Amino acid sequence: MNIKTIITLSLLPLLTWGCSSESPQQQAERNSNQAQETEFTEFELEHGIGPVTERITLGELDLEKVAKGQAIFNSKCTACHEFDRRFVGPPYMDILERRSPEFVMNFILNPGEMARRHPEGQKMLAEFLTVMPFQNVTKEEARSIVEYFRTRTSDQTSQ
Ligand code: HEC
Repeated sequence: MNIKTIITLSLLPLLTWGCSSESPQQQAERNSNQAQETEFTEFELEHGIGPVTERITLGELDLEKVAKGQAIFNSKCTACHEFDRRFVGPPYMDILERRSPEFVMNFILNPGEMARRHPEGQKMLAEFLTVMPFQNVTKEEARSIVEYFRTRTSDQTSQ
């Protein structure tokens, strides 16, 4: 090895470091994205952030809850949601095929934080450009709304 080769080799890492295509700003953004992904537990990523922190068991369809959920839905949700088409917010036809019951409940009970902080909420906010306002429903009422959604899946309506 002659001296020229040695100098070139020792400069190589410096050169490639200098040529890195990422700007410091991009690097900072990437770091903060990584931080955001690890900010949540696996449960929270899948089921949302809010008062529901454990899996729930749906069990047999409870018709009393269905009726209660339907009444709340008609009075507090139809201003922005329909079952079969996008409105102010997303449609609900297949929501329980796309989301877990826990996710739906956490969204209903904690919509502001879900839209601003949760990766799935942020995606929806980018699409719908409105933060869903909290509709003043209790955890039990949110559970009834889930029961109502169980009767409105695409499977059942297409039969
Ligand atoms: C003022 C309009 C508005 C009202 C009223 C409203 N929502 Fe929403 N909802 C939205 C918007 C907009 C989104 C999309 C997410 C976002 O941007 O915050 C959304 C998202 C959701 C989601 C998440 C959907 C998904 O695909 O994951 C659920 C669940 C939901 N709403 C349930 C309800 C329920 C139940 C009610 C009634 C108690 C209700 N919303 C009332 C506007 C509304």
